[in-house]
Parts: sequence; structure tokens; C-alpha cells
Amino acid sequence: MTLAPLQSGRQARGRAFGKVILTGEHAVVHGHAALAAPLKSAWVDATVDTIDGDLLVETTQSSIETHGVAAVARAALNAFGREGKGLRVYIESNIPPRAGLGSSAATALATVRAVAAACSERLSEKQLLELADVGEQIAHGRASGVDTAASQADGVIHFLVGTPPVPVPLASPFWLIVGDSGIPRNTRQAVRAVTEQPESRRLEAFSQIDRATAQMEASLQSGQLSRAGQALDLAHCALEYLGLNTPPLERMRRAARNAGALGAKLTGAGLGGCIIALAASENEALRIQESLLETGAANTFVERLAP
Ligand code: PMV
Repeated sequence: MTLAPLQSGRQARGRAFGKVILTGEHAVVHGHAALAAPLKSAWVDATVDTIDGDLLVETTQSSIETHGVAAVARAALNAFGREGKGLRVYIESNIPPRAGLGSSAATALATVRAVAAACSERLSEKQLLELADVGEQIAHGRASGVDTAASQADGVIHFLVGTPPVPVPLASPFWLIVGDSGIPRNTRQAVRAVTEQPESRRLEAFSQIDRATAQMEASLQSGQLSRAGQALDLAHCALEYLGLNTPPLERMRRAARNAGALGAKLTGAGLGGCIIALAASENEALRIQESLLETGAANTFVERLAP
């Protein structure tokens, strides 16, 4: 797509990061806790300039849902009392779409920040989240809000729907390696598939996920990274029991474990998307990344999380 040059001097920009869910996906939709973290190597930039006319959304990434971006931008304009203001929103991103890395939440957050800056409005945290949530509801249907909360956190958070996220203090640094299968996942469909499972099966899985989340949180706080890795494996088994694993995800997970990961699991909605693996050093992380690429990962990210 060819873009007319943005008018200099009238631009405003907003940036937001991707996210990874460490443990608690799906359970979080049903009122359980999740642990999540920002993925700062994965970002979305929104650039806004004022134009005559209506609202225009443009992007070089064809997979960005422009109607969701437009809805978010419109909601922000309404909240600032600027309905009808002509804006062009231009989205750039390095987050693989539909991979469970928070592309839609980051797009919405970056858009709200850029529109607020264009309108010279200061945003409260609450307002930012509420406006970004307009896009999340369009992208995900019943969204827990974990993506938006993690995207703008400084580090690992403990997230529960309806309560402010709580930062999890870390005792030592660790590395998360993300492997993207390149197969798009569909959150709405996966959430529905879990909701339609027999209640007993779902509750059994959620109770194992709760155990994994508690173990993960305690292990990160005490620096017991091998126990944190075991917690990832435990959470993965529960997600697999819910039918969310796929052969490509399992291949990457095994490759990561064989390359020395302390634990590995699918992350996000499942039935496609990504895995995460845990390592205690950068060298180990790079070795795991290499093995994921050899196994056919479409994208990889290595993220250091530190106290
Ligand atoms: O969109 P994903 O793949 O990051 O999944 C989000 C996590 C879910 O728990 C499955 C849904 C939600 O809204 O929390």
C-alpha cells in the first residue's frame, strides 16, 4: 500500500508492547488468576495525524483489523469530546498477528495513546484500559483484559479480572523464549471450545492451572527457576487436557525441552499460536531459540525479565 506522506508537525505517536501469558490462560476468563508479562521486543507504533474528513486507518500489515482500530479511535475521540474530528491512524507492528502475543491489545493501546496525544489529552490508566478494551471485545469476544494489563506492565503481573494487576517481585532474572508456530489461533473459538467442555473436566483442568500459577508465582519470588519451569509443564498438561495443544506446538515444546529449557508450554488461546520456554541464562535461551528455529518456528522472541 502506498501512503501519502504524513503531515509533519501535526503528528502524534503512541507505542505499546506485546505480551505473554505465563500461566492461567482460559482459567482467567472464568475468574481464576493468571500470570503474564510484557514482551518488549514485540511492539506496535500508531501514528496519528489530523486530516479533513472522517477517520482513516492504514497499515502495512494486512492482518491488522482496521475496523477494530477505527472503533478504538472513535471511542477515544468520543471520550475526549472530539467526535467528528478527521484523523488518519497509521499502524506499524512487528508482532505476529493471531499468535497469542497480544497484537490486538497492543494495537488498541498504541492507538488510544496516539489519539490522546493528537487531542492533547492526558489519559488516566483507567481510561486507557477502558478505551483499549473496545478493540479487545471486537477481537476476542469475551476478553479477560489480561492482554492490555500485561502489555503495559513493567514486569510479571498477577492478574485477576476486575482487580488491579499486582506486580510479582522477582528474585532473579530469567529468560522467556517464544516460538510461534505460524499457525493462526482463534481466541474466540478456543474460548468457546473450553466453555463448552463438560464442567467437571473444565474444573479439573482449572484446578491444575491454579496449582501451576501458585507454584510459578512462588518460584519466581524465591528464585527457584527449575520449580518455575515445572509449573509451566504442569500448566501445559492442563491445557492439553482441555484439547488446546496441536502437533506443531508439541514439536516446538519438545525441541525446547530437549535444548535444555526448564519448562515449556503453549501460551495464549492455543489451537495454534505460540509456546513459551523458560531458561536461567542468556546462553541457554539462545540455544533454545536456535532449536525452535530448526524445528520450523515462524518467529521467535527472547525476553529477559529481571528484578
Ligand atoms: O488471545 P490470546 O491467544 O492471547 O489468549 C488470551 C487468553 C485467553 O485466556 C484465552 C482469553 C482471555 O481473554 O483471557
